[in-house]
Amino acid sequence: MKNTRTFLKLCFFTFSLIFISCRTPTKINGGVVSAMPYASEVGVKILEKGGNAFDAMVATNFALAVVYPVAGNITGGGFFVYRNADGSSGTLDYREQAPEKAHKDLYLDEAGNVIQDKSTVGGLAVGVPGTVAGTLEIHQKLGTMPMHELIQPAIYLAENGYAVTEKQARSFNTYREQFIEVNGADTFYAHEFKAGDILKNPPLAKVLREIATNGIEGFNSGWVAEAMVSGVQKSGGILTQKDLVNYKPKWRDPLTFYYKDLKVISMGLPSSGGICLNQMMKMIEPYDIQGMGHNSQKSIQLMIEAERRSYADRSEFLGDPDFVKVPLNILLDSVYISSKMNNFDWNRATPSSEIKPGESYFFESDETTHFSILDDQGNAVSVTTTLNGAFGSKVFIDELGVFMNNEMDDFSSKPGVPNMFGLIGNLANAIEPKKRMLSSMTPTIIEKKGELFLILGSPGGSTIITSVFQTILNVYEHKLSIQQSVDASRFHHQWLPDSITFEPNKFDPKLLHNLNDIGYNSEEKKSKIIGKVDAILVDDDGIITLGADYRGDDTAKAY
Ligand code: DON
Repeated sequence: MKNTRTFLKLCFFTFSLIFISCRTPTKINGGVVSAMPYASEVGVKILEKGGNAFDAMVATNFALAVVYPVAGNITGGGFFVYRNADGSSGTLDYREQAPEKAHKDLYLDEAGNVIQDKSTVGGLAVGVPGTVAGTLEIHQKLGTMPMHELIQPAIYLAENGYAVTEKQARSFNTYREQFIEVNGADTFYAHEFKAGDILKNPPLAKVLREIATNGIEGFNSGWVAEAMVSGVQKSGGILTQKDLVNYKPKWRDPLTFYYKDLKVISMGLPSSGGICLNQMMKMIEPYDIQGMGHNSQKSIQLMIEAERRSYADRSEFLGDPDFVKVPLNILLDSVYISSKMNNFDWNRATPSSEIKPGESYFFESDETTHFSILDDQGNAVSVTTTLNGAFGSKVFIDELGVFMNNEMDDFSSKPGVPNMFGLIGNLANAIEPKKRMLSSMTPTIIEKKGELFLILGSPGGSTIITSVFQTILNVYEHKLSIQQSVDASRFHHQWLPDSITFEPNKFDPKLLHNLNDIGYNSEEKKSKIIGKVDAILVDDDGIITLGADYRGDDTAKAY
C-alpha cells in the first residue's frame, strides 16, 4: 500500500515536471532576428557584452553589409524605428535621395517614354546613399559602446570570410552574368559560387576600418568617396562627391495609431509603410476577423479590399513630405478611412479603377533586409534597409567591395507607369534633386496596453506592407505563435494590377476558385516568397519569443 502510494506520488511528480517543462518556455532576455546567422550572432554578442539594442543595431547592420551583400549595405538606405524601455519612441529616415543633377524626366527618351532598365541597372539608377550617415547618427544619439568595437566584427568577417549558404550561392550565380555585363569579366562576383565557399572581401574591410577611424568623412570624402563616385559615373551615373557630403539623415516623428488595445508605432513618410498599415488596419477593425479564421475566404476578401484601397491612395498622394504636401489629415481621418469600405461587398470583388493596368508587373526577388532587436532593459529596435533590387544597380565598386543601390526606381519615372514592383506613382513621387523616393518599408513596433508587444518588419518591395499587416493579425487576432505567424502563407494585392498574388501551392485551389467566382483575379507567385518577416514577441506574461522567417537564411539568436 505504502509502495503504491510512493509509486503514485513519484508518477505525479514526474508528470508534473514533464508538464511544467513542456509548458514553460526557457526565459530569454532578448535577442536579434536578422537575415543571416552571422549577423544575428554579431548583434547578440554585443548585447551579451552589455551593449544596448542600439549598439547591437550598429554591429548587426555593418555585419549584414558584409555577409548579406544582396541587400545588407553601406551604400543603400533605410528606416529605423525604436522604442525605449521607458516607452518613448522615434524614427530615423536615412533613405537615399536623388542626386543634385537628377530631374523629373531622367529616365525618359525624347518621345517621353520610359527607357527600360535605366532606373534599375547601372550608374544612373543609384541614389545618394544614407546608410552610413544613418547608422553613425543612431550610434551617436543612442549607443553606448565605442564605434570601433561595434564595427570590428564586420571587419573580421570581411577579412577572414564567411561561409556562403546554399541560397546565397544560388543568388550570386543567378546574377553572375549581369554582374559581368555591368562591371566587366574581372569583377569580384564574376566566378561561380557554391555552398560552403569562404567569401572574403578585404576591400570592404578597408572601407569599414576607414569609417571606424574617420566617421562619416571616412565614407563621404577621401579615397572611398572618390572610388565610389568615379565607379558610378563610369557606369553612366550622375552621383557626385557633393551629393555624398550634403546627405543628412532625418529624425522624424513616428507614425502612430491605435488598433483595438494596440498602439502601433511605425515609419512615416517618405515611407508609405506606416500610413498604409494605418489605413488597412483601421479599415478592417470593425469586422470580426478572428471569428472568420486565419486565411479563410472571408478574412482574405476583407484584407484584400483594405489593401486595394490603401495602395490606390498610396500611388496618388504619397511622396517625400519635404517636397510635396501630402493630405495626411484626410488620408488618416477615421471617417475617411471607414468611408472607403462603404462599397465593400462580400458577394463581389470591388474592381480596381482603370487608370493604368500594371502591365510590366514582376517581382525581381525579395531583397531588402529587416532585423529586429530587443535588449534586456526593454529597448526595442526595428530596422529595414535596402539596396532596392537584389544587389541594387549591380554596379560593383571593386576597390570598395560594395554594390551600389538602384533606389531611384522607387520614384515614379512617369505618372501611371509602373516601377519594378508594379507600383504606380504620380507627381507626388516624381524625381526632384535631393528628394527622397517613396518607400514601402515598414519597420514597426507595437505596444499592447502600454507594454512592448511586437517588433517586426520585412523585405519584399510592394509586398512589405501587406506582409507586416498579415503578420500582426496572425499574432494578435489569430493567436498564432510568433514563428507560426512569420511562416504563415501570405497573399498580396496592391490595387493595380487588379489581381491577388498568392504564395504558390500554399492555398487550397478551391479557395482560389471561389474567389475567382466572385470576381477576384488571382495568380500564384512564380517565386515562392512574399516578404521575409523577422519578429520578436513579448506576450502578456512578459515571455519573449523570436520568429525568423523560414523563407530565407533568417536566424533568431536569443540571450
Ligand atoms: O523602399 C522600398 O519600398 C523598396 N526599395 C524596397 C525594396 C525591397 O524590398 C526589395 N525586395 N523585394
